[in-house]
Amino acid sequence: MAGQRSTTEDDITQEVLQRFAQTPDPRLRQIMVSLIRHLHAFVKEVNLTEAEWFRAIEILTRAGHMSDDKRQEFILFSDALGVSMVVDLLAHRNPDGATESTVFGPFHRLNAPELPAGGNIAHLDQQGPPTLVSGRVFDLDGQPIAGALLDVWQAQTSGLYDSQDPSLHEMHMRGKFHTDAEGRYLVRTVRPVHYPIPSDGPVGAMLRATGRHPWRPAHIHFVVSAEGYEPVTTHIFDSADEYLASDAVFAVKDSLICDFKRHDTADGEARRLGVEPPYYTTQFDFYLKPASGQATVLDAQRRLAALGAG
Ligand code: BEZ
Ligand code: FE
Repeated sequence: MAGQRSTTEDDITQEVLQRFAQTPDPRLRQIMVSLIRHLHAFVKEVNLTEAEWFRAIEILTRAGHMSDDKRQEFILFSDALGVSMVVDLLAHRNPDGATESTVFGPFHRLNAPELPAGGNIAHLDQQGPPTLVSGRVFDLDGQPIAGALLDVWQAQTSGLYDSQDPSLHEMHMRGKFHTDAEGRYLVRTVRPVHYPIPSDGPVGAMLRATGRHPWRPAHIHFVVSAEGYEPVTTHIFDSADEYLASDAVFAVKDSLICDFKRHDTADGEARRLGVEPPYYTTQFDFYLKPASGQATVLDAQRRLAALGAG
């Protein structure tokens, strides 16, 4: 019809923005409007084809099908794209003496066994050298926190987490430890190894297609929590690891790097626990900040870990 203007891609963007402009919750409005602006700009910038759009839907569908209580392909995507670490850094901008956080990763599991101080999380791992990880949990004034909970998980020396290992039918390399009256904790394990992030799904395909390596430097995961304090989700990293500078998920922070010291004769603690040399020790103290009164990430992590469980 004469005078009729055909709709352009920018008209659609404007119309979508207008619809979301009515969102009652101001924060949700801000997020949706910004998301639409950036998403539409991205599609236009790369001139996304229909075939590429279908490919993206296929990839996201596959990520959904792969995700359950043992595997979280969406977290893995967020991690490998660096989004998890950007979110982490935005949330913990101010250096205030509290232990720095890092990615949660996709391998946390609910209901790890409660273990006494010195309990061995690696009882089925015959390959890795025995390692004692110890330290204390403090508040920001340097006062020890008694009864703090440390939820610990680690990959086996094979490089696989228990949930990835078809030969295992029980939890392994996981435990929950509590600090004593002086805030002390002690975990018996094996020395962590570097391992590749799972590459049998869409994230692996992305890494291969883009020429990226999948390795994470050797580390042990912790979520440390205590009544009245903000929980911290973090790792400790082995200072000797070759992938510290090129972690596939960008999660290394200098303050989390620890030396693992080799011992060729057993000292008091190792002898008491029956640990045979050669073994390693490392020490790391956690500093928790007071609870902010806001919802903690721990609740969200629990909900996520429970998805598909049972
Ligand atoms: C992990 O350390 O378990 C992990 C973190 C992010 C992506 C994959 C694995
Ligand atoms: Fe890990």
